[in-house]
Amino acid sequence: MSKEKPVKVKFYSGENIPLELHKVRVVQKLNLVPIERRLEALYEGGFNTFRLSTKDVFLDMLTDSGTNAMSDMQVSAMMHADDAYAGSQSFFRLQKAVEDVLKKKYFLPVHQGRAAENILACAYIKKKGDLIPMNYHFTTALAHITQYGGRIVELLYDEAYNIDSAHPFKGNLNVEKLEQVIVETGVENIPFIRMEASTNLIGGQPFSIRNMREVRKIADKYGLRIVLDASLLGENAYLILQREPEFADSSMAEVISIMTGLSDIVYFSARKLSSSRGGGICTGELKIYRELEALVPLFEGFLTYGGISVREIEAMAVGLYETLDETMISQSPQFIAYLVNSLTAKGVPMVTPPGVLGAHVDAMSICSHIPQTQYPAGALAAAFFLISGVRGMERGSISNQRDEEGNETYADMELLRLAVPRRVFTLSQIKYVEDRLVWLNENRSLIGGLKFVYEPPVLRFFMGGLEPVSDWPERLIAKFKEDFGDSL
Ligand code: F0G
Repeated sequence: MSKEKPVKVKFYSGENIPLELHKVRVVQKLNLVPIERRLEALYEGGFNTFRLSTKDVFLDMLTDSGTNAMSDMQVSAMMHADDAYAGSQSFFRLQKAVEDVLKKKYFLPVHQGRAAENILACAYIKKKGDLIPMNYHFTTALAHITQYGGRIVELLYDEAYNIDSAHPFKGNLNVEKLEQVIVETGVENIPFIRMEASTNLIGGQPFSIRNMREVRKIADKYGLRIVLDASLLGENAYLILQREPEFADSSMAEVISIMTGLSDIVYFSARKLSSSRGGGICTGELKIYRELEALVPLFEGFLTYGGISVREIEAMAVGLYETLDETMISQSPQFIAYLVNSLTAKGVPMVTPPGVLGAHVDAMSICSHIPQTQYPAGALAAAFFLISGVRGMERGSISNQRDEEGNETYADMELLRLAVPRRVFTLSQIKYVEDRLVWLNENRSLIGGLKFVYEPPVLRFFMGGLEPVSDWPERLIAKFKEDFGDSL
């Protein structure tokens, strides 16, 4: 199959500007509230950006989950959805899209990505201590595995932990360590190997096909299954086209089918993969389908809707086909690269090379004066919201869970993630983010730490409440007013 050419545009000025190749036809008004109100909102929301109300948020860079722009084709498809508890035509259209795009015949719908994780952990973690080797964990995947008594081991190459790097595939799974872990642990204690496309928590970094082929060889040698978390599959495939020479002339469809072909089970959050809602698990093996099938009606809903509305099922189907459009998929990574490169040039420490999902700011470096016990990434997320109205997400120790004895497990990286959902923001909004972050970096000594005042036992980062350890937010506001006057 020859590659369908993505649209590329050069500027006469030589500037590397990512041009929007879509037009905006439905818009939503944004609020930019005064800094004093933003401070109140932080106190009301426990200095946790998850707990802010969008009426106080200017640019919502919390996540790309369910916030990517939908296409006109998706919205129109929603209008001809077929409402039925069982045997809905909408489901069959989705099943066909899964087979066409992900090349897997058997499909189980679930209400979102973590529901797939629940089903997989429930089906395959048979005894306490079962070990899941993976390139890196995602919060909900880890929570479900541990909930069923399992453990994980993260097997990245050392380079992955280098924030500032030129390595094109920091998400690669360390195959030498994988083999060692399998031999030491015993295959009977390893339910499956998990590979996450574009490792979310270390800065949206992809793995290569070459790496995946090596993992496949080891999996075959020991008779183990590979489970692919495909939530960020399109972006990982796009970066393979950009960075892995063997695939420079391949199409998105080819790369995606190679990746899913190397996996026994593929699951995904459709909130990310296909700009919709919902999720799914698919496989080419009837045996695997049968092992999982009964859990869908138990946890999600009947097998032809899986807890997803039929309208969303239609949007998912169209969104899956759109994942094959390189021009569409490249929009978010190109905006991210623009933001990362311009911030790096202005001295703001960023995770490099630019990854997918969002731009990741190195809070450990900006807030080197804040100890990890006071959550530098959470503090940076709160400070950045305060001075800009931009809501990012903490991806550091607050997002980690305590160990079995209740001790803190400090994160390998303390990151502020600024998500760039597909086709949502304009370039001037991205430039505003850049401008305010440069200012905050120059005034970083004013940022202080946080402490928990309310800590839920599971996934604490969602609803946890914190407060500043000093009056640093007030001092930051004073400096902001000095420099910006009346400007919001
Ligand atoms: N796997 C990955 C790699 C994810 O990024 C997510 C969600 C999930 C699984 C869970 O899917 O939310 O549909 O249940 N990531 C979102 C984020 C929440 O903001 O990064 P879900």
